[in-house]
Amino acid sequence: MTFASTNQKKFDEVKSILALRIAVDFAQAELVEVQSDSLEEIAREKAKSAYARVGKPVIVEDDGLYIDSLKGFPGQYSSFVFKTLGNAGILKLLEGLGRQASFRSIIAYYDGKDLHTFEGTVNGAIATRAAQGGWGYDPIFIPEGAGVTFAELANNKNDYSHRKRALDKFAEWFTRRD
Ligand code: IMP
Repeated sequence: MTFASTNQKKFDEVKSILALRIAVDFAQAELVEVQSDSLEEIAREKAKSAYARVGKPVIVEDDGLYIDSLKGFPGQYSSFVFKTLGNAGILKLLEGLGRQASFRSIIAYYDGKDLHTFEGTVNGAIATRAAQGGWGYDPIFIPEGAGVTFAELANNKNDYSHRKRALDKFAEWFTRRD
């Protein structure tokens, strides 16, 4: 199985989550990101574009951070908002507002014939200040039940992550099919 993404850190997590179940290699690739309200749609198109590149069964991922008090923003724009506003910008926007949020992952699998998506969500909250470490929104996202951010969870992030939840569903399906 090949995981295609621009993000090596995502791949490191995918590899460790699937470790004992599915061997996975990495294709570092810029993939077509269609504009859509639906993470599923974006992930499906990414999977087709990845398969066209690598010519082997692939999985790709699309994620979104949804902040309740901002009516779900940044959602499908999470990547753009991270690059522009960043964690500091999100913390600023949330001053005086509710901090409930959720992180959602869609894993899309495509082998040239079958196209399947798998969803994982973790509820949580946005911290009041950014922690050290991690990547992306890790320093500001506190998964429910953890009490600290993804960044501070370090090696225990997979106990809570949206990515783990989506990949568990994928692995269950993949190892049982045929
Ligand atoms: P992407 O479109 O799947 O790359 O993800 C959207 C945005 O969410 C990007 O800015 C990622 O860096 C960020 N992101 C996705 N997953 C995580 C995570 O597990 N921790 C922190 N940030 C993440």
